Amino acid sequence: MLPVSLRLAVSLCFIAAALLAAAPLPAMAEDAKMSEDRKLVVPLADAEQGLEIFVGKGCVVCHSVNGIGGKAAPALDVAGNQPYFDVFDFAARMWRGAPTMIVLQEMELGYQIDLTGEDLAHLAAFAADLEVQRRFAETDIPEVIRDWMVDEVYQELDPDYMTR
Ligand code: HEC
Repeated sequence: MLPVSLRLAVSLCFIAAALLAAAPLPAMAEDAKMSEDRKLVVPLADAEQGLEIFVGKGCVVCHSVNGIGGKAAPALDVAGNQPYFDVFDFAARMWRGAPTMIVLQEMELGYQIDLTGEDLAHLAAFAADLEVQRRFAETDIPEVIRDWMVDEVYQELDPDYMTR
């Protein structure tokens, strides 16, 4: 029995050889044309809308900006003086924090916050915009959300979480 990685390499060689040998089939030519026509779409990112989502979807229950918000999670203040921001990088940061975040969202809100790609882009813009962040005030948070805000640090909320 070959190890899995070797078997995979062998089958990849066969596939590569088969592809090289085959004249471009009509279906493949069609695929190539489709990928030429297919454009990469990057959603518009607007920091003001990001602020609304940050509050409206409840990120503020656990995260603070400008010292305003929950203390359960790392603050999302602008880090350094970046000349650009990267929506994918922001999504990757969220992905890294996702296991804990989802447990906590289910504990604190009772559900996992649902986000579209556009929401993520706006949130990334907000997380990178010092000017909009500076304008963020306690009064931007509706009463009902303020009541939910978590003051404990997450390790204290669920001491067993680390062992999961
Ligand atoms: C119920 C609490 C809670 C809510 C609500 C929540 N988060 Fe988090 N989030 C966390 C915790 C806790 C972590 C840290 C996880 C870790 O360190 O493993 C985290 C991590 C993150 C990180 C990574 C932070 C870093 O240091 O790089 C980002 C970015 C983030 N959250 C964005 C969001 C956004 C945007 C929302 C709203 C859509 C949101 N979070 C809602 C609890 C929450």
